[in-house]
Amino acid sequence: MKIIGSGKYIGGKKISNNDLSKTLDTTDEWIYSRTGIKNRFFSDINIDEMATIAAENAIKDAGIDKNSISYIIVTTITADSTMPSIACKVQKSLQITNQCMSLDLIAACTGFIYGVDVLISLLEKHNKKTGLVISVEKMSDALDFKDRNTAVLFGDGAGAVVIENTGNNVGEVLNFAEGDDNNSLNLATSVDSFITMKGRDIYKFAIKAIKNNVLQTLETENISLEEIDYFLLHQANSRMNNLALSSLGVPIEKIISNLEAIANTSSASIPLLIQHMKDNNLWINGKKILFIGFGGGLTWGRFIYTI
Ligand code: ACO
Repeated sequence: MKIIGSGKYIGGKKISNNDLSKTLDTTDEWIYSRTGIKNRFFSDINIDEMATIAAENAIKDAGIDKNSISYIIVTTITADSTMPSIACKVQKSLQITNQCMSLDLIAACTGFIYGVDVLISLLEKHNKKTGLVISVEKMSDALDFKDRNTAVLFGDGAGAVVIENTGNNVGEVLNFAEGDDNNSLNLATSVDSFITMKGRDIYKFAIKAIKNNVLQTLETENISLEEIDYFLLHQANSRMNNLALSSLGVPIEKIISNLEAIANTSSASIPLLIQHMKDNNLWINGKKILFIGFGGGLTWGRFIYTI
């Protein structure tokens, strides 16, 4: 498979740590030193509109006819409706009129990696050429702004990729889950439900997930750590990502991050990193990238990709 286009939506109100500290018992110093976050954006448009803008940008970037798209997979934990799905709403907004399958997928912060896995499988099974994965989160709808443990961590955003079933740029895409019996990360679907989190449990889980995913990739792909040019990890906390990767010997300049500018955007964080690389002229043919997702569920997954 090949990623032939990408797009994003980041917009609405820009909220700094100092803005949050006006109504919460927190400081810029506390948030930045523990997480690497400085700012986040809170969207003032609906989640399907955010997804549509990211998808339109990705389709434009790919330079394809939108009616060549056979699958639209939207990953999200913050859908404002389950019927129609956000994917069906996007299909309507994009006015894709061919026979296209559209579905939402929930895998928390691992959503993008799950989405790529499902899309590749569908493209191969049905011998189709092109599909979209859109990862979109309106986290501001799911935050309790009285809870400083969670309110400071998240932001809104959408990232989309167009994937073509050609080329051999990807290693094995592997995803896993383990039922969480400790309520480490919860979000109910009822109105006015908010994210709750046991930060230290997630911290320990994430460090282990990152290290295991890296070491297992080296084994399954039979490559060395040095052969990987960039590490695109779910953006929960840059201190955590840097610590886990540097303990394995990864130099800091290989770790791509967007946390400072947009905070944790859950499943959108990884496709937004792709866009970040393109915007900074780092998306260069031949470079090898390790993608790793981890999050609520608990879920985790990975794949290696050569641009
Ligand atoms: N501002 C100021 N103080 C705070 C804040 C805040 N925003 N939040 C918590 N505190 C306080 C706590 O109340 C506590 O005070 P106390 O000692 O008086 O009780 C103190 O800081 C320490 O709290 P901890 O939760 O133990 O803080 P910790 O040092 O573990 O850092 C953090 C918290 C950054 C969330 C850390 O646990 C972490 O990185 N966890 C990983 C989880 C994560 O990043 N989750 C994001 C979503 S999950 C995902 O995307 C997969």
